[in-house]
Amino acid sequence: MSGPLWHGRLSSGSADELMRFTESIGFDVRLAYDDLAGSMGHVKMLRHVGILDEQEATTILQALGAVHDEMQLGAFVFQPSDEDIHTAIERRVTELAGPVGGKLHTGRSRNDQCVTALRLWCKREFRSLAVALLELAETFSVAAGRAGVSESGLVIPAYTHVQRAQPVLLAHHLLAHSWALLRDVERLQDALRRVDVSPLGAGATAGSSLPLDPDFSARELGFAARFENSMDAVSDRDFVAELLFVLALIGTHLSRIGEEWVLWTSTEFGFATLDDRYATGSSMLPQKKNADIAELTRGKSGRLIGNLTGLLATLKGLPLSYNRDLQEDKEPLFDSFDQVSLAIAAVSGMVQTATFDAVRLSAAANDEFLYATDVAEWLVSRGTPFREAHSIVGELVRNALGGGRSFVDLVGADSRLGADAVAVIRRGVANRTSPGGGGPQAVAVQIQRFATKVNQLRGLLT
Ligand code: ARG
Repeated sequence: MSGPLWHGRLSSGSADELMRFTESIGFDVRLAYDDLAGSMGHVKMLRHVGILDEQEATTILQALGAVHDEMQLGAFVFQPSDEDIHTAIERRVTELAGPVGGKLHTGRSRNDQCVTALRLWCKREFRSLAVALLELAETFSVAAGRAGVSESGLVIPAYTHVQRAQPVLLAHHLLAHSWALLRDVERLQDALRRVDVSPLGAGATAGSSLPLDPDFSARELGFAARFENSMDAVSDRDFVAELLFVLALIGTHLSRIGEEWVLWTSTEFGFATLDDRYATGSSMLPQKKNADIAELTRGKSGRLIGNLTGLLATLKGLPLSYNRDLQEDKEPLFDSFDQVSLAIAAVSGMVQTATFDAVRLSAAANDEFLYATDVAEWLVSRGTPFREAHSIVGELVRNALGGGRSFVDLVGADSRLGADAVAVIRRGVANRTSPGGGGPQAVAVQIQRFATKVNQLRGLLT
């Protein structure tokens, strides 16, 4: 009989429209090796509990191995009736192993099978993604090192409200992104703990009357634990939602970075220049050099957020336990995973090869008003209450903006301030001494602490 493997109860073949609409092989083919691994674990468990004898288990395992080879060689032939990767593999195993292949699915349903494969896939792929993300976080700290962490390092205005606020080392600004990305690595790691649970043995929803040993298959597949409740096991997609959230947040972080690089590489800011390999031209405007990686990183974050909200919307109305709606888990997950992987690599190359414009940066960082707070704090160190200092300096700023004299001149001429306060302005970014702040000593400490944290995380990931 041709037609899907689940044909038993149905008298007629399936309508083409049904097959076209319900198939998932177009995307879950990506789970082929994980499905094979899951099936091997299942067969070993069936052997362990005596449901299969040695001969039967060996024959099925050999067929699974042969399918694995066919997949690797690109020689696996899909049939129109293969509605998903799970049925395709089972069909082929039965062709190769003969009737004993029909024992592979004993005590198993695609409901526990498909989510077992998906969890295996997530464990492997998201670990690699976490490593790539850790490397991107390091790329920013390497760029920070290049920008300089001493007094002679490049200085940039730190902005609030997109208004120049206070000068900091450029390294400090770059490292700010490193820390955000490091938190994403930690989030991935944390989410992976909840991925690491085997649903195999839950069956369709209620377990089995056969003497299955889900602990055995969990161990066999390298999961940290087995499911606790079979109904939860087949309907739980929290792990997919969590991973989609982490991907959306990574995308959000990359989007904020992208927005900054669009600004920094504009003629107006001119803080950074992209390497030509990481910039694009315009089809019409000959003079253009565009930051398309930065823009698309920003643009794609919308899609990543959409994938997360789409899955949550799919899940929210589902009664227990398995429902076919759950098949909608994979496309958003694969899409977000792919887009974030591509973005990480592209942003990494863009940042590694970009150069900073020391002249434009120092022109911005030498804006004398950036030192207004330091002057006020100098007054504070002399015993003036901060509110009063704020108003004294604020008045000088107002006068400087309104009249012909510079802020520095006015500070020098003011009896409450004078030469010592001007010296504060001249000291530049070195004024910023507090731990975690943007001055040279604090940033030197910060970069050390960052390296320690990276090493810890790398140890946990390998
Ligand atoms: N292809 C489905 C999925 O990816 C599994 C199919 C389970 N279908 C079913 N009718 N039990 O989720």
